[in-house]
Amino acid sequence: LTRLIQLSATSHALAAIPPAGFDVHLRALADKAAGRDVVLLSMGDTDYDTPQPIIDAARHALTVGRTHYAPFVGAEPLRTAIARDQSAVDGGPRHADDVVVFQGAQSALHAALRAVADETADVMVIEPHYVTYPHVVAAVGAGLLRVPISRDEKGRPARLTRDRLERAASSRLRALIVTTPNNPSGEVLGREETDAIASFALDRNLWVITDEVYRTILFGGPFVSPAMHPELRGRTIIVNSLSKSHAMTGWRVGWTITPATVTPALRAIKMATLFNSPTFVEDAAIEAFRGARDFPAQFAAEMERRRNALVAGLDQSPGLSFVTPQGGMFLWMDVSATGLSGTEFCEALYSASGVASVPGGGFGPSCADFIRVSFGADAATLARAANDIRNFVASVT
Ligand SMILES: Cc1ncc(COP(=O)(O)O)c(C=O)c1O
Repeated sequence: LTRLIQLSATSHALAAIPPAGFDVHLRALADKAAGRDVVLLSMGDTDYDTPQPIIDAARHALTVGRTHYAPFVGAEPLRTAIARDQSAVDGGPRHADDVVVFQGAQSALHAALRAVADETADVMVIEPHYVTYPHVVAAVGAGLLRVPISRDEKGRPARLTRDRLERAASSRLRALIVTTPNNPSGEVLGREETDAIASFALDRNLWVITDEVYRTILFGGPFVSPAMHPELRGRTIIVNSLSKSHAMTGWRVGWTITPATVTPALRAIKMATLFNSPTFVEDAAIEAFRGARDFPAQFAAEMERRRNALVAGLDQSPGLSFVTPQGGMFLWMDVSATGLSGTEFCEALYSASGVASVPGGGFGPSCADFIRVSFGADAATLARAANDIRNFVASVT
């Protein structure tokens, strides 16, 4: 008999994270595979396929033997295209040398945190936050600090303020992760919020990691990011990917854009973990900035139509309360007026109608009253889902 071999503290920290609440989603996937009629609005993905020029470029790369090792920081033309794209957004100038290519934003986030935080540090996230942030923070051994949601006098989610950030801070705080547009809430940061983040980060000498994977899916207003704040320039790490902007969730292309002080660490982490990205995938990714450069705007326009359809379909439902999302692909609804928790609502809605959504709890402990519904499906599917959700709410209120 072998004695139990010890696991790392990281393994224990990861195991202690409560489940993210994807039970209904997993049930819906299994039911769908079994041929049942379900509506999957539980994922950060859409019915769009990757634009053809990108697929053609991958096919071509494979046929010409682009199947060998590549430079581990990422192919130079891809990093140049990423830097140019970012310069067009924030004025730059950004250079290829500021960019390290990773396998999706997820691995870029992990690398970014690995570069700046460790067991001696705390990392702050703002609820509702993307579900994997606690995992990433635990994976680098850091402590997690959460800014809980707060409500204004009308009971609606309040905007971010310096005071809210201060109340969650600790003396070990080293980095703050922000997401704009937000998953799950669809909220976007404005100048007031980036000013609050800037004064907080400067006074406390923090890194700011800005997750911008929904940057191109913005409905109206200008894109505002901590990366564009002049005082944050030297302390901001941008994380982004092609997953959402170019319907490339399965390709795994993401990156970091960093001040020169952090780039060597990120290059070394890339070498230690992924070594290099798939060569033919990088070739295809370059095409996202060339042959498919018009795709993000068209896609965002379609996502805005879908958002409008879902919002219009649910607006009059008395048990649901929400702020119209300003970007991203989700509607984030407070369901407490139905008397159900987010988890109860999701489960009962799925059993009654086959519409799969995600309960709020995975996005932070203060979010148990909420659910997240994706509007990544086509118009007919969203119309059916809105109808089913309305009928379900009527049946429980
Ligand atoms: C806010 C946010 N960050 C990061 C990711 C991960 O993106 P990627 O597919 O590029 O790893 C997602 C995916 O849903 C997300 O919603």
